[in-house]
Amino acid sequence: MDKLKGRDLLSLADLSSDELKELLQLAAQLKSGQVNLKCNKVLGLLFSKASTRTRISFTVVMYQLGGQVIDLNPNVTQVSRGEPLVDTARVLDRYLDILAIRTFEQKDLEIFANYTQIPVINALTDREHPCQVMADLLTIQECFGHLDGLTLSYFGDGNNVANSLLLGCATVGMNIRIATPPDYLPNMEIVGQAKEIAQGASEVLITNDPQEAVREANVLYTDVWASMGQDSEAKSRIPIFQPYQVNEQLVESAADDVIVLHCLPAHRDEEITDAVIEGERSRVWEQAENRMHAQKALLASLLGSD
Ligand code: CP
Ligand code: NVA
Repeated sequence: MDKLKGRDLLSLADLSSDELKELLQLAAQLKSGQVNLKCNKVLGLLFSKASTRTRISFTVVMYQLGGQVIDLNPNVTQVSRGEPLVDTARVLDRYLDILAIRTFEQKDLEIFANYTQIPVINALTDREHPCQVMADLLTIQECFGHLDGLTLSYFGDGNNVANSLLLGCATVGMNIRIATPPDYLPNMEIVGQAKEIAQGASEVLITNDPQEAVREANVLYTDVWASMGQDSEAKSRIPIFQPYQVNEQLVESAADDVIVLHCLPAHRDEEITDAVIEGERSRVWEQAENRMHAQKALLASLLGSD
């Protein structure tokens, strides 16, 4: 994967179909132990939002690779006191080998990418969550043995996860359907990008009708109805999103071999029922584990191994 060395991952659109598939293959090989890589480098985590999975999985795999991690909590850096991002970026560039950033605005992530030479990884913005979707695709590949031609149907808010699913599924030849309330569509620029990537060979469907989305679906996916930064809207959104809940009835309407994914954290009995997340179709714990394997492949590819 030398062709990824030194590059950024700001969006899943940064990866070609071959590059994404090769990353998933490397992740599977790292998980099985068939491949063992070492990479004695330093990863910085600059997270302006809470995180359990992303923060800890990046930390654990960097240690497994033989590298080190510095948690750059913005509250204890000068970022919290208003030091310009362009200055912070140029300084961190000289200390670190790679930087994973979780923030609000995609443009802040782009500032870091533009003012550093080191690889910058999107660890979640309001626009995208590419690391999550790499792990999701790895999970689907493990469950079905392939990705091409499968249908993933997402129900709920057209948020960062939905946007990255659009790009990720289109890139690997999966059909992607997004069912949201009318005022909560995914990013339409990303929908256009996904259609361009799919080139009509796979489906990209945006609908307000959960029944239209669920037919013959192999993967049902949902995420919280109010993302980080939207907490004040959480209560008022509940009745709007209720028809998009992933519940046993919806699971019954999908393909017989359907699996259910959720990026977590989940709000049980809001976007997903307790019965479904704990049920036999759920693969959410495998999905959470795969954050490690996918990100280990990503780190080793962007940094190059020793
Ligand atoms: N799914 C995910 O990114 O989880 P965290 O917010 O806990 O990192
Ligand atoms: N859409 C959610 C994902 C959390 C992993 C959020 O941005 O809060």
